[in-house]
Amino acid sequence: MSPIKNIFDPASFPDLLVGLESPDDAAVWRLSDEQAIVITTDFFTPVVDTPYEYGAIAAANSMSDVWAMGGKPFFALNIAALPDNLPTEILSEIMRGGAEKAKEAGVVIAGGHTVKDKEPKYGLVVIGFVHPQKIISKSGLKVGDVLVLTKPLGAGVTTTALKQEKVEEAHIQEAIEWMSRLNKKAGKLAVEFNLKGGTDVTGFGLIGHGVEMAESSNVQLQIEFEKLPFLSGAKGYAEKGIFPGGAFDNKKHFESFVTFDKTLDEPSQMLLFDPQTSGGLLLGVPKEQLADFKKKAEESNQQVWVIGEAVTGKGIKVK
Ligand code: CO
Ligand code: CO
Repeated sequence: MSPIKNIFDPASFPDLLVGLESPDDAAVWRLSDEQAIVITTDFFTPVVDTPYEYGAIAAANSMSDVWAMGGKPFFALNIAALPDNLPTEILSEIMRGGAEKAKEAGVVIAGGHTVKDKEPKYGLVVIGFVHPQKIISKSGLKVGDVLVLTKPLGAGVTTTALKQEKVEEAHIQEAIEWMSRLNKKAGKLAVEFNLKGGTDVTGFGLIGHGVEMAESSNVQLQIEFEKLPFLSGAKGYAEKGIFPGGAFDNKKHFESFVTFDKTLDEPSQMLLFDPQTSGGLLLGVPKEQLADFKKKAEESNQQVWVIGEAVTGKGIKVK
């Protein structure tokens, strides 16, 4: 329960379509029957040690919530907190990474604000448009929807291996490539197919965001472990116990909502709690649309993995 709920009565803001009542990936405000704006912000400390890639990943991640809502981002502001002694060229590389990623998305960064802080933080405030009838939300899954994921899992373990200086170069490059990738095409596909249930997989991991969807949609998610895509190094790092602290927090918060098949060992289970940075979209696709959806995805060069199904019940079952 957010304390601001007590201050703002949602009933007095009829144009606030998504907000305090139903925390989702972004807030949505209706401008007219045809148009609403989606607004979101996110920023975080460096996940990789190259400033340009850090900026690009942070920007891709910030914009992702707009696509996750069925929206189209067009406008953004930088938010940064940077150490006093940070060399100017590092600062400008972070900003250049963010700006080029935004440009790739068709989004203009029109300003922003920077404060001083010991540890660097960077991200964007992003504004997009969405049609009020085409909003995608965590509560939109229906029994029978097929669950589709658009990026592999394992960003948390791979970047933690980097921090612990145990990472293989090829593994971190692969993680950077995926984290920098925009969810733009996936979001566009979701809107084309008029999907209703979706989110992006970020800090709470597949299980955490899955639980949010299961709870608010009043369905159970059945996930098939064998069908889940992972970054090449993820299972190896998991077996060595290289997990970020957030994975254990996620486990603590969400494990009571999940039943795992007995054959799944501890590292495999933990991998599903691994927090993701700039992860893929998790979408519910009605069964009868799945073949067309997969075909369209392939044509537009968007990888998709079918990982399970929404069924009657509660929580998550991993088989
Ligand atoms: Co999100
Ligand atoms: Co967010």
